[in-house]
Amino acid sequence: MTNKFTWYGHAALGLETGGYHILVDPFLEGNPAASVKPDHVAADFILISHGHGDHVGDAVEIAKRTGAPIISNFEIAAWAETQGVKKTHGQHLGGGFKHPFGYLKLTLALHGSELPDGHNGGNPAGFLLTTNDGKKIYMAQDTGLFGDMKLIGEEGIDLAVLPIGDNFTMGPDDALRAVKLIQPKMVVPIHYNTFDLIKQDAPAWAKRVEAETKTKVKVLKPGESIEF
Ligand code: NI
Ligand code: MN
Repeated sequence: MTNKFTWYGHAALGLETGGYHILVDPFLEGNPAASVKPDHVAADFILISHGHGDHVGDAVEIAKRTGAPIISNFEIAAWAETQGVKKTHGQHLGGGFKHPFGYLKLTLALHGSELPDGHNGGNPAGFLLTTNDGKKIYMAQDTGLFGDMKLIGEEGIDLAVLPIGDNFTMGPDDALRAVKLIQPKMVVPIHYNTFDLIKQDAPAWAKRVEAETKTKVKVLKPGESIEF
């Protein structure tokens, strides 16, 4: 079984595993870096890490078009239902659940989570997915550096997806420290170059990571994929 990871730009991610399309933080309309349109993107399940507009994005419309359930923290799942989404699944930090596509655990994230309409978005989260063929993917989404990333790394991470944009999340220096804590086999940088405020030199970051750790860095362009 191959697993395919796609970066759609910013923090919007696609994961194909066991025939399922998992769509994460689908901020596509109004995202200058987006490589797909919300009415074309595939989704069997939609994951939302926190309430900010650049993560909730087009999740509600895509859920309505595809019938895909929205999986998020309890507060965002409940909010999605008030927006007319029929199927949701609420989890919370540290809690895992065996979905058809794998075992998904919500991890800590140091960030905010208010929803675009001012509703309480609960606590922000990252995602730790164990696929049905045993691969582990950690999608940190928006977060600052925290020492418990070491605990996440102890699970044995095949692919880590980390923000490097700075200002709203970890910047390159802290993201390098995160790689040292997590020790993933592979890392993909995200949440940079969407706007001037989060402009970063990803190839330069990749050189530093590969010089100082054993982790392989995959710098993707929006729309590009890797298989693992
Ligand atoms: Ni955010
Ligand atoms: Mn963000």
